[in-house]
Amino acid sequence: MRAVDIIQKKRDGLELTREEIEWLIEGYVAGTVPDYQMSAFAMAIYFKGMTTREISDLTMTMVGTGQEIDLSAISGIKVDKHSTGGVGDKVTLILVPLVASFSVPVAKMSGRGLGHTGGTLDKLESIKGFQIERSQEEFIRQVQDIGLSVIGQSDQLVKADKLLYALRDVTATVDTIPLIASSVMSKKIAAGADSILLDVTVGEGAFMKNIDDARVLAQTMVDLGKAVGRRTTAVITDMSQPLGTSIGNRLEILEALEILQGKGREDITDFICQLAQIMLGLANVDKTVEQVREHLQNGAALKKFEQMVEAQGGDLEDLYRPSSAKFVLEVRADGDGYISDLPAMEFGLFAMRLGAGRAVKSDVLDFETGIVFEKKVGEKVTAGQVLSKIYANQKISQELVTEFKKNVKISNERKKTKEILEIIS
Ligand code: URA
Repeated sequence: MRAVDIIQKKRDGLELTREEIEWLIEGYVAGTVPDYQMSAFAMAIYFKGMTTREISDLTMTMVGTGQEIDLSAISGIKVDKHSTGGVGDKVTLILVPLVASFSVPVAKMSGRGLGHTGGTLDKLESIKGFQIERSQEEFIRQVQDIGLSVIGQSDQLVKADKLLYALRDVTATVDTIPLIASSVMSKKIAAGADSILLDVTVGEGAFMKNIDDARVLAQTMVDLGKAVGRRTTAVITDMSQPLGTSIGNRLEILEALEILQGKGREDITDFICQLAQIMLGLANVDKTVEQVREHLQNGAALKKFEQMVEAQGGDLEDLYRPSSAKFVLEVRADGDGYISDLPAMEFGLFAMRLGAGRAVKSDVLDFETGIVFEKKVGEKVTAGQVLSKIYANQKISQELVTEFKKNVKISNERKKTKEILEIIS
């Protein structure tokens, strides 16, 4: 076989065989297919798409390029969760201990953030001492002992995705359904959980910009999971504005703690309780949203989170420390009205420039910086009221504030918001 023939076949919109997909992907991982040919292949997929069968073959070929984690030593139904990426997305930090507080084991591998989206690992690393690197034995033992662990994805898992994702990131080929579905599901399948909850984000700050595309992606991934015997449910969630009230690593830990103490905003608390209810259902534990919420109010979920922090070397005192950013600037409203838009992507990029996110993989993060939103879409504001607070370690220029304000849209009409748009199972 020749890579050029496979690329040409896809470029011309024809269906590839399993052997052709395997030859190309395995060759790429082995180093015999160069980056430039894989880039051309990714772009051909971007424009011509893939059939369901091709996506399934691509996914399983990718799984085969690395190790598969065996979680069978942990008793019970293991559930996992994955988000296709968001701004201010601290869901894992709350959902994992909340689900674990119902004695459902959660062994989760997470990633770092890149570009406008944040990563769970970065947030956890803003807690002094927290270790995200653990051997597989330690990872499994911790879940056996306390019921939960969140660690970094092993280098040995889905080697093809590591290489391909980095290539897609710099060749404008991330936002295409076959490549997102195979990337996410190869990792979830290799990570070994019995059941999977997928959070497919849609909107300005997500890879999927409209509900129709999000639906196709969600259904594709649910089908991939089911085909290999994993109970899989997808929720389509809104990412037109940042999730919750904060963006930035330490700031998001603090928001997660508030929610874990039952003192979070109603909208995000309710959203997380609904996700937890679905995740528990995937492990055959039927609870009402109210019963789930009780574990935020009675401290059960917080206790689990603290147990995990301690087990992974984190300092419990540092956990509750406020951000040490040198400059905190209040941004105030110029007029009256309702917040009508807080574009997630713009604020994600803004927080990245403050140091809270990475433009390139090698960037070193400033854990303390970011944004706290006092007002979200649909809320009433009056002139002079604080809209947001910017946390920075460099002096905040007037131009930066002007730029920030340009993105906070205020109108006379009250917009309704909803976190979960659809559930696909
Ligand atoms: N998240 C992933 O893990 N992979 C993608 O391709 C996009 C989002």
